[in-house]
Amino acid sequence: MSTTHVDHGQWSSRLAFILAATGAAVGLGNIWKFPYIMGENGGGAFVIVYLLCILGIGIPVMIAETLIGRRGRQSPGNSVKALAIEAGANTKWSVVGWAGLVSGFLILSFYAVIAGWAISYVFQAGAGNFNNATPAQVETIFTTLLSEPSTLIFWSTIVLLGTGLIVGLGVKHGLEKAVSYAMPAMLVLLLIIAGYAAMNGDFGKALHFMFYPDFSKLTYSGVLIALGHAFFTLSLASGAMMIYGAYLPTSTSISKSVLAIAFADTLIALIAGLAIFPIVFGNGLEASQGPGLVFVSLPIAFGQMWGGTFFGTLFFIMLSFAAFTSSIAMIESAVAWVVEHLGLSRMKAALSTVSILWFISMLTVFSFTGAEWAKLDFVFIGKHVTNYFELVDHLTSDVLLPLGGLATAIFVAWVMKKPAVKEEVDMYETTFSIWYFTLRWLTPFAVSFVFLNLVGVISF
Ligand code: TRP
Repeated sequence: MSTTHVDHGQWSSRLAFILAATGAAVGLGNIWKFPYIMGENGGGAFVIVYLLCILGIGIPVMIAETLIGRRGRQSPGNSVKALAIEAGANTKWSVVGWAGLVSGFLILSFYAVIAGWAISYVFQAGAGNFNNATPAQVETIFTTLLSEPSTLIFWSTIVLLGTGLIVGLGVKHGLEKAVSYAMPAMLVLLLIIAGYAAMNGDFGKALHFMFYPDFSKLTYSGVLIALGHAFFTLSLASGAMMIYGAYLPTSTSISKSVLAIAFADTLIALIAGLAIFPIVFGNGLEASQGPGLVFVSLPIAFGQMWGGTFFGTLFFIMLSFAAFTSSIAMIESAVAWVVEHLGLSRMKAALSTVSILWFISMLTVFSFTGAEWAKLDFVFIGKHVTNYFELVDHLTSDVLLPLGGLATAIFVAWVMKKPAVKEEVDMYETTFSIWYFTLRWLTPFAVSFVFLNLVGVISF
């Protein structure tokens, strides 16, 4: 392996790792996706299942993934391979790493398009287009955006090119420092919007919707979506945490860092919900309208609130930034792979990766513009998909990420030797036992159960 081993360097501190991983975790998943899937899946009960998934499955798997990276100290596939060798197990386990790389790559193919919406909204907000706009006018701005392939292509090209250049130049460390300002700023902005929404929207109804669990509204597919989103929002099973773990100094506590990241991520997602839903209910919008939710609800608030042009512009700048820090992490392992295996320079590797992604991103662009060729109509692994975006989203979030998480859990808790695992995580005895037990039994059982239900092998 010596010929392919690339020294990727190390984080300067625990904080640098936390910032980078938080930058990866907090993104469109928290502010765009979480609210709309919550809206589609009936609210409160979905939120509870989601929180349980974060706590009982996401956090344990995140610790597992980070430890694989840190012990292996290479790109995901090679790290898993090295650890499999250490444990005397089959090197085919490295597929756990490769699969993550593919998932991250596929996620970026639609993520870049949505990030493009966010950037285009910086200009919409900046131009004052939302000022005093009625809900219907705000909806028209969004549907107009979706009806113009060239605009969507333009913005997703900017996102992919920007991502490729940042990764290629290797300047992401500078960006990660910016996370330490941008994340608190994002939090404050969301709180301001939530405060406005609480006073001017239907806050009572939003609280009831988000926190009153009506389990009759929750379906099994909703449970799987919550599970998949727990992986998505924490950036699990997509290569990122393994590669970030690979740069982590040995002296750092993995579990404490992971808890901090997961807490920040969950907090931002919940506050995003509190900012969005009062406006949705106060303006008679549809909570279950799907991917456009944040793009038609918040602009209404920006159009009416004091300083709305300023706050709106700032909000979409922050959202674009959050999306960028995630995009970068998403192709990091694919680019590292290309550098290691194809021997390309970092810049060439990054630019070729985003070029291929550009073509795949067209599937999402034309799904939203409603092009006939992008329409689908079949059941794919337990879900009726109507376009390519839904297919790729479902394939990654509901299938590849849960299965990748399952494989990671099995690898760390069953294949790796316990002393090696113990040495790497540095936890108190009882905490270790709880975590290890969860990873060994609860995670595999819960993921298999939900998944087998989805594919119809079992049915509850
Ligand atoms: N966590 C990101 C978000 O919520 C999305 C994501 C999924 C991601 N997998 C990733 C980001 C891998 C970076 C790396 O927006």
